[in-house]
Amino acid sequence: MNSNDIIKNAKILVIDEDVNMMEIISEILTGYGHTVVTFTEPVSAIEELKSSKYDLLIVNYLMSPVNGDRVVELVREFDKEIYIILMSMHRDLAPSIETMQNLDIQAYFEKSSRFDQLIIMIQSGIKYIEQIRKVKSMNLKLDQYLFDFAQILLNTITAKDHYTGEHSKRVKAYCELFAKSLGLSSSDTENLLTAASFHDVGKIGIPDSVLLKNGKLTDDEYDTIKLHPVIAANIFSVSDIFDAIVPIIKHHHERYDGNGYPDKLKGDAIEYLARILSICDSFDAIVSKRPYKDECSIEEALEEIKKSANTQFDGSLSEKFIDTINQNMDHVKDIIVNNTSK
Ligand SMILES: [Fe+2]
Ligand SMILES: [Fe+2]
Repeated sequence: MNSNDIIKNAKILVIDEDVNMMEIISEILTGYGHTVVTFTEPVSAIEELKSSKYDLLIVNYLMSPVNGDRVVELVREFDKEIYIILMSMHRDLAPSIETMQNLDIQAYFEKSSRFDQLIIMIQSGIKYIEQIRKVKSMNLKLDQYLFDFAQILLNTITAKDHYTGEHSKRVKAYCELFAKSLGLSSSDTENLLTAASFHDVGKIGIPDSVLLKNGKLTDDEYDTIKLHPVIAANIFSVSDIFDAIVPIIKHHHERYDGNGYPDKLKGDAIEYLARILSICDSFDAIVSKRPYKDECSIEEALEEIKKSANTQFDGSLSEKFIDTINQNMDHVKDIIVNNTSK
């Protein structure tokens, strides 16, 4: 084998009770440019794997107090990525195929075989890990591109309709406050805030004559505006990375009594995070000045939200929202002042 073909600098941990065998393996692998750390007993080896990142694990099958398959089981609890080669002295002592599959062991090596086979296994293991890491980083980049694309859409609407951009920022800020006081999980909070940022992106598909109209909308024009949640849902169905936020955005204008749009969903059929967004969205609309209405005070807005409990809004959420705003009054005034251009 040409040593140039070997990928160098992999970090490899070897666990074997047979010190001589480990010395041989260690010498060969170090000669190929890898960093090798050896352990004669599994317990401290597992601790080491927990505290620092390795590319490959070579583990002997028969050991005490825990056998290699149990070691792998324990390692897989915290590291799904490490490439594992299980080795044993003889074929009769080899683990079953089921064990190999269940524990995601990628290779099996018999100590009696030639060591260049082990080198080949290690080389393909490292290549595999490199590919997996490349794919993962490409996926991360793709996710970022898609979120950038959503931001570009929002900036495009904001360039012509300044209100939408500022409104989205304020709605996101209210959602952040509300999520905290409701004790939402971090993934729910993240989805809610992303949905809040982009909830009105569908307005990009609304004609300027309607979107920018300086005055009260006619019924037909209002029907056109009502298309924006569906337009946004269609825009975001471009990738499944938006799967969690599509229903929140699509249903931010549903009403608890079933008289909202676009699907006339009722009560708990409306996604929980959409019910939260709906209150934050409406609160901002009420306290904002629009071409067809003056701004209301925070107190008036809260009164409105109280009145619409169980009709427009989920009653228990409107109560909690009112408490949240009252308990964070200075912060709320700050949001209104700092995210509004006068
Ligand atoms: Fe909206
Ligand atoms: Fe909105």
